[in-house]
Amino acid sequence: MQHSAGFTRDDVVTAALEIGVDRFTMGKVARRLGVSAADLGRTVSSRDDLLVACLERVSADVTLPPTGLSWQDYLRQLSDSLWDVLDAHPGLDHTLINLAWAYVPFMSVAKRAHNALVSGGLRSEDAYLALSYTLSTVLTAHQQAVAMAETIESDRRPGQGERGIDAATRMWDERFGGSGAALGMRGPHELHGGDDADRVPFRPKESWLDRSAMAPKVEVIIGGFSSLSDVLSASGAGDHGASRGASPASQSNDTRESSVNTLVLVFHPNISESRVNKALGAAAESLGGNITVRYMYDIYPDFNIDVATEQAALLGADRIVLQYPMYWLSCPPLLKKWLDDVLTFGWAYGSTGTALHGKELLLAVSVGGAGSAYGREGAHIYTIHEFLRPMQGTSRVIGTKYAVPFLSVGALEITDEAIAGRAQDYAAVLQTPELPLLDIFG
Ligand SMILES: Cc1cc2nc3c(=O)[nH]c(=O)nc-3n(C[C@H](O)[C@H](O)[C@H](O)COP(=O)(O)O)c2cc1C
Repeated sequence: MQHSAGFTRDDVVTAALEIGVDRFTMGKVARRLGVSAADLGRTVSSRDDLLVACLERVSADVTLPPTGLSWQDYLRQLSDSLWDVLDAHPGLDHTLINLAWAYVPFMSVAKRAHNALVSGGLRSEDAYLALSYTLSTVLTAHQQAVAMAETIESDRRPGQGERGIDAATRMWDERFGGSGAALGMRGPHELHGGDDADRVPFRPKESWLDRSAMAPKVEVIIGGFSSLSDVLSASGAGDHGASRGASPASQSNDTRESSVNTLVLVFHPNISESRVNKALGAAAESLGGNITVRYMYDIYPDFNIDVATEQAALLGADRIVLQYPMYWLSCPPLLKKWLDDVLTFGWAYGSTGTALHGKELLLAVSVGGAGSAYGREGAHIYTIHEFLRPMQGTSRVIGTKYAVPFLSVGALEITDEAIAGRAQDYAAVLQTPELPLLDIFG
């Protein structure tokens, strides 16, 4: 189409993406827009400049799974989302594998995914590794699926072409026979008790053409990280670094665990009837040492808060944990009163209000609704992190470091077993020397 009236940088990015992220040239883009290569220079300075803009556009289009999922479900849904993005942008898999810096524009998406995995119960360093494994697996599985589906020139059928998978199957069968006997493979009868030649290991299968080739690999990744966390819980939350052959850096972190003075303030109006917060509170109490747990509704049944006592308790803490159930998309009223009374001007904020600067602030929130009820597709439309924004904003004002919140979603219908799992995860998080922080727009 002719763009005599001018074109924008956005138009150029769209044209490049339509041609293919791995195959556009400045000349092809200019021709597609009906302009000269020199005109193109008004909006993009080079092919690399345009490629960065393309990758930024793609990264903005990535639909991350809703927050509040377990890390396992998050990884499953994330791999599906990544597959969708690769499907939508032919050549992206190739670019991400072959161009060293191509992943960099995706870092803010990766950080959000990392935060969600940590919220979903994975340790921070494991979350980075799990993301890395998942991304590599999705990329290679996708690239292989594309190669298998693509029509390629065939020596056997000149001019006709055949699908990659058909060429591979033909070659496989010629070399090894349909059963793989020439490879010394156990045949399908022995292997599966059936006679489906399609099941011989490594003989190409139609399932290699789509994401069903990826899903079992993602399950292996999930299984691997699950067994790491089994080791973590079996060995006691405190000594996970050593039991997992951690790097010297993380071992030295572990020795710092005992030095984090932690104040857990539990705001639950009826803790004796609680299931989730009672279990989390008990898990925190069982850690003892320098982790102090205070049940605020027991201490202040009349809402008459002793500000001096509260401020002194906060001053002695390196890490402040506000633990509470989500009520009306917000917090129980005593917590609101506590914020109003205790975080005073000149102490917690204002030019001299630096008392809490540099301390970590962790929210541990139980949420009655399921994770799927939150986020754009859910009944509540906004994400849980968005509902927690006033707390995040308060953290900015008082100069605390806002950690990735510890969320227990689906708290109304949660099983006893899942509560026990959350309590164990909570204990591990409380013992983490340095909590991962949430991006300001995370
Ligand atoms: C007054 C009230 C308001 C609530 N509001 C919400 C809400 O806005 N969103 C939600 O997901 N759950 C809501 N819930 C459910 C609680 O979050 C849930 O009961 C709690 O997290 C369970 O934790 P517990 O076992 O420690 O009591 C509400 C519950 C009550 C009693």
